[in-house]
Amino acid sequence: MNDRPATGAREASRRRLDPAFGSNKLLEIQRMKTACDNDGALLVDGSLPEPGPFDVRGETIAAACKASESWSTLQLIYQLVVLEAPGVVVELGTNLGFSSAYIAAALSALGRGGRLFTIDASPYRARFARRLHAGLGLGGVDYRVGLFEDVLPGLLDELPVVDLAFIDGQHEHDATLRFFELLSANCPGGAVLLFDDILNYSPEMSRAWSAVRTHAAVHSWAEFGDVGMVILGDRPGSNR
Ligand SMILES: C[S@@+](CC[C@H](N)C(=O)[O-])C[C@H]1O[C@@H](n2cnc3c(N)ncnc32)[C@H](O)[C@@H]1O
Repeated sequence: MNDRPATGAREASRRRLDPAFGSNKLLEIQRMKTACDNDGALLVDGSLPEPGPFDVRGETIAAACKASESWSTLQLIYQLVVLEAPGVVVELGTNLGFSSAYIAAALSALGRGGRLFTIDASPYRARFARRLHAGLGLGGVDYRVGLFEDVLPGLLDELPVVDLAFIDGQHEHDATLRFFELLSANCPGGAVLLFDDILNYSPEMSRAWSAVRTHAAVHSWAEFGDVGMVILGDRPGSNR
């Protein structure tokens, strides 16, 4: 007996991916990242009226680029976004905009109007990311500048739900758990939360990850090197 789904069902679930945002676009982003890795030009050059709380005058693009994700993690994030086809993605930690470029490329490839909201305390990094994405022809990104703790609650009030989130900044125990609570309360069952630096960053991050993955709201979890992923279950009584 043939137990494959009927053609109609297969058609309905098939992704129609825009080839303009496939492998070539990913290689283009990767080439930009390699160029930034070696770019000694100033990122924090004093041209903006107010630096962010962590902006150090004289910081170069190359120095900032060191905080970007590895190629393998960026690939994983791209594939996950394509598989999940989220309507709303939230990222904590824009930095120069490389992980957001991969997310935006995946959302563009899906062509379903999915949006990315990315937060960073640094106006210099937000400006760089905005220009990078424009140069790469990537849209659908909303940049929020400010501390996560100040920006995230208001952003979540604006959004109907969050389908996927990438937490890649302020790697502290209490902050990580607070972000998990805030995000998961706004996520439907099946939503995906990714946490960077879960194992090798610090003992407090390992404890935070342990608390997250064993939380009652979590359906299942996985570790990909230093990236932790949880899939949320349905919250009892929640209609999200
Ligand atoms: C590891 S980097 C993000 C890297 C980025 N996701 C990528 O892979 O391209 C972390 C970023 O979080 C920002 N950040 C750290 N703590 C923050 C906080 N409390 N509020 C807002 N931004 C913060 C930093 O300015 C930095 O740009």
